[in-house]
Amino acid sequence: MITMLARILAVCAILQIAIAQNSDPLDDVLTNNAAYFTTNFGQPVFSENRSLTVGPRGPVLLEDYEIQEKLFSLNRERIPERVVHARGTAAKGYFEVTDDITNLTYASIFSSIGKQTPVIVRFSIVSVSTGGPEWIRDPRGFAVKFYAGSPQGGPTQGCIWDLVGNNLPVFFIRDGAQFADLIHAAKPSPVNSLSPGWRFADFLSWHPESMNVVSYLFDDVGIPADYRHINGSSVHTYSLISGSGKVTFVKFHWLPTLGEKSLLDQDIPSLVSKFPNGDFATTQRAFCGVIGEFGWVAQIWPEDQFPMKRVGKLTLNQNIANYFNEAEQLAFSPSHILPGIGFTDDKLLQWRLVSYDDTQRYRIGPNFRFVEVNRPRCPVHSSAQNGPLNIANQTGEINYFPSQFSNQEPVAQFPYDNSTVGPGLRVRTIINKTDDFAQAGDRYRSFDSARKARFVTRIGGMLSDPMNAGGITSRWMSYLQQMDSSLPNQVQNAINTAKAAMGSSAIAGGG
Ligand code: HEM
Repeated sequence: MITMLARILAVCAILQIAIAQNSDPLDDVLTNNAAYFTTNFGQPVFSENRSLTVGPRGPVLLEDYEIQEKLFSLNRERIPERVVHARGTAAKGYFEVTDDITNLTYASIFSSIGKQTPVIVRFSIVSVSTGGPEWIRDPRGFAVKFYAGSPQGGPTQGCIWDLVGNNLPVFFIRDGAQFADLIHAAKPSPVNSLSPGWRFADFLSWHPESMNVVSYLFDDVGIPADYRHINGSSVHTYSLISGSGKVTFVKFHWLPTLGEKSLLDQDIPSLVSKFPNGDFATTQRAFCGVIGEFGWVAQIWPEDQFPMKRVGKLTLNQNIANYFNEAEQLAFSPSHILPGIGFTDDKLLQWRLVSYDDTQRYRIGPNFRFVEVNRPRCPVHSSAQNGPLNIANQTGEINYFPSQFSNQEPVAQFPYDNSTVGPGLRVRTIINKTDDFAQAGDRYRSFDSARKARFVTRIGGMLSDPMNAGGITSRWMSYLQQMDSSLPNQVQNAINTAKAAMGSSAIAGGG
């Protein structure tokens, strides 16, 4: 009895200290300096690591709630990883307007020079899983969430803008109908979970429009040195809408002030030993935003015709404090946009507009907006309600529209892109752009001879897998020929060299 009393007193004393230390008693966090453990519901835990058993050997009693809760919580620690871009990390900072574009858009974040908007940026790698390596040849995601809203709100202010781009300015396909196939081909085999290059080579060999992104991916920039030195691009064309309704097509780019840097294939082994967890710590980085004038998703906008215009500067100066909350549950969607910015009739972008919110509802849950990092920083007056983990304290009676008891109205229409998009027949067809190779060829010819040789060696290495023999290789050769007539011969030589090297290593291994 005395022992029990002593225990209760001790717990009370500790509790007082804990409350005094903790400014918010509802902070549900493992602080590492709390005086004692509790269950998930705040009951003091008497043993964190000893089961409650019948006698010292067991069996374990079902009433051991503390350990039960601990084990069952562990079982629920994971949410589904992102189906693409699963591995990545995030950093916070702000975007600052440096140049006036108010003649092009009334979007609130561009309203005045010097205006700062808080951001979180997630950098990622497309095809590997959460635990995968970050030093493979793959595009990198560059997704920026602008917290543009303010507590006062306002109909034309908007709230969250997710500019979800990549480091490479062009993409593999032009129609979202092909996205699932692209990703299946890039991801590991369903049979054995290995990632042989022929699967991707096979898919791309049916997509001549992918040769432009190939001219980046197989170039040195295909493996960025780190997240401080990568470019970013919206890839898609968006529209800016001025206060008078004038529409300007734009493509957004982020240029690192530290310059772009890549890893060459021979750098990888030393990097693996230096960063065993692929941990590219993030501090103090700045980028410039620039705007061009018109373009298509598989092609860049030639700068001589569409000069870039500087818009602002993105500074990332704060690491995240909790990976799960601020990177894993961070949720982007290209459909989250501000008044004054619009979409275009790009068949890839249009599918993205519906796909991301859909995946967030599955991956995080229908109320993913309540996770702090996703929370709009402006008043939300939607009639959406309930659902799992809804924490909104919705007290209004009128959750329907119209009603005699509510003054709430949709906002008066502000300028939007009202340009004509039709009429047209209902068709399922490819975009009729025949020039799939000119930009890819120009890019290849812009390399110095050592860079050209590395490009050729990498493609030759990929095509040297016997699975590519026949149709896959001949389709690639025909595309390479159209990029630059010198390429097929050079790539054939690279294939032969790679095959010979594989043969001799097999003999060496066999011996
Ligand atoms: C129709 C084509 C596309 C579809 C359907 C699609 C779909 C998706 C999905 C479902 C995710 C996972 C999101 C999540 O679970 O949080 C994702 C992530 C991502 N996608 Fe796409 N995607 C497409 C094309 C593109 C393109 C063209 C780009 C580049 C402009 C891109 C950039 C990204 C980035 C950066 C992420 C990671 C976002 C993050 O850091 O959380 N995607 N995409």
